[in-house]
Amino acid sequence: MKHFLNTQDWSRAELDAVLDEAAAFKASPLGQQMAGKSIALVFFNPSLRTRTSFEIGATQMGGHAVVLAPGKDAWPIEFDFGTVMDGEAEEHIAEVAMVLSRYVDLIGVRAFPKFVDWSVDRQDKVLAGFAKYATVPVINLETITHPCQELAHALALRERFGKDLRGRKYVLTWTYHPKALNTAVANSALTIATRLGMDVTLLCPNEQYLLDERYMGWAQQNVAESGGSLQVSHDIDAAYRDADVVYAKSWGALPYFGNWEAEKPMRETLKHFIVDERKMALTRDGGKGLFSHCLPLRRNVKATDGVMDSPNCIVIDEAENRLHVQKAVMARLLRG
Ligand code: CP
Repeated sequence: MKHFLNTQDWSRAELDAVLDEAAAFKASPLGQQMAGKSIALVFFNPSLRTRTSFEIGATQMGGHAVVLAPGKDAWPIEFDFGTVMDGEAEEHIAEVAMVLSRYVDLIGVRAFPKFVDWSVDRQDKVLAGFAKYATVPVINLETITHPCQELAHALALRERFGKDLRGRKYVLTWTYHPKALNTAVANSALTIATRLGMDVTLLCPNEQYLLDERYMGWAQQNVAESGGSLQVSHDIDAAYRDADVVYAKSWGALPYFGNWEAEKPMRETLKHFIVDERKMALTRDGGKGLFSHCLPLRRNVKATDGVMDSPNCIVIDEAENRLHVQKAVMARLLRG
């Protein structure tokens, strides 16, 4: 069964074909690629963009989307195996995934980490459970990676720079946020930027903010294959200098996972990682570097109003592209 769990599972040719098809959907949005077909969108966490763009995308292709929130409007689900289910869960992922597969043609799953124990969360059990038992393709709507966001970001960069992104200086910068957030988008940005052959700098305050070894490893593997490069920097100005792209995200330091009060004193000293006009002025051609972020974004915490309102800010294009790339992913999976 072909799923879309991570871009790393798909070949470069497949990803390029999806991006080409997404561009075609952007030019001509309506079709019947999903006529008579449906998708279940299973949300364990809130969403604005993902939910809206998948629902609208299915409708624009003549299909239908059903949104479910287990524990709220659907039964709570058990994901462990061999457990005595005498807690909150009313049914097991085995039955949930197999039953949904009898009704729908695709299943999308959003399940953020529980933020208690990274060794557990990094197993991505919810997504893995759906993928194991579903008999229809499963799409990752953000768990510990966010592959749909990767594609939307890639399409936005292609729109500005053309299809060949090799040699572009790409900065993935950590930013301050009052809460310790998911590493999913950072893992994904590192994955797709290295896959596309860019010269990638991971800018973070110190070694404690490095990403999980799985994603650092994917990035190393990608640069070896794509001809790009990867470096880690803690020097803000050096990282921004001559950058073609600055992509911002906040995330919790993995050594403090589940012990966030202990991270907080360090985090509170790092507000200067905000993306501001002074830093963006260091980017290519006297400040013409592109800025993006997956959204939602707290203005004047992660990035200033001036950066967000700049013509070089492509966050809205990237958010729009979620619709187009996801239609391309759904159409491709339905074609088998
Ligand atoms: N970027 C993104 O996935 O947005 P939502 O959380 O609103 O879906």
